[in-house]
Amino acid sequence: MKRILIINGPNLNLLGVREPGIYGNESMTSYLDTLREKYINYCTLDYFQSNHEGDIIDKLHQVGFDPQLDGIILNAGAYTHTSLAIADAISAINVPVIEVHISNVHAREDVRHHSMISGVCHGVIAGFGMNSYRLGIEAILSL
Ligand code: DQA
Repeated sequence: MKRILIINGPNLNLLGVREPGIYGNESMTSYLDTLREKYINYCTLDYFQSNHEGDIIDKLHQVGFDPQLDGIILNAGAYTHTSLAIADAISAINVPVIEVHISNVHAREDVRHHSMISGVCHGVIAGFGMNSYRLGIEAILSL
């Protein structure tokens, strides 16, 4: 049984409510139930969300040296495009991090085309709606 942590960054607590045309109608709580049921025999799924950059960094430090943790799925929200500090935290830890986005950031405004964290992540998944998280799980299970 593998262990996976999903970390969501700013504004992702509003999934299901926030810009449904881009991010869909489903809340993270509801989607997590679906994922936990689907992967019940394969992995445990922990979840952390914060709107604060430092809290995300603290969480990465806290879990990132745990040999029992197989991978982190990180949707850093808008910090993706701005945060050298989160990139440095990912570089510092041992647990592999998969960068995930619900929307196809490359099909959106120019400011979303650049990610500060892609280069230090194990891989990147974007544009599959909430399924992006599921594909992140598949990626970690296949590492
Ligand atoms: C996002 C894309 C980011 O550009 C945006 O700031 C988000 C969500 C996504 O999941 O598509 O908050 O990471």
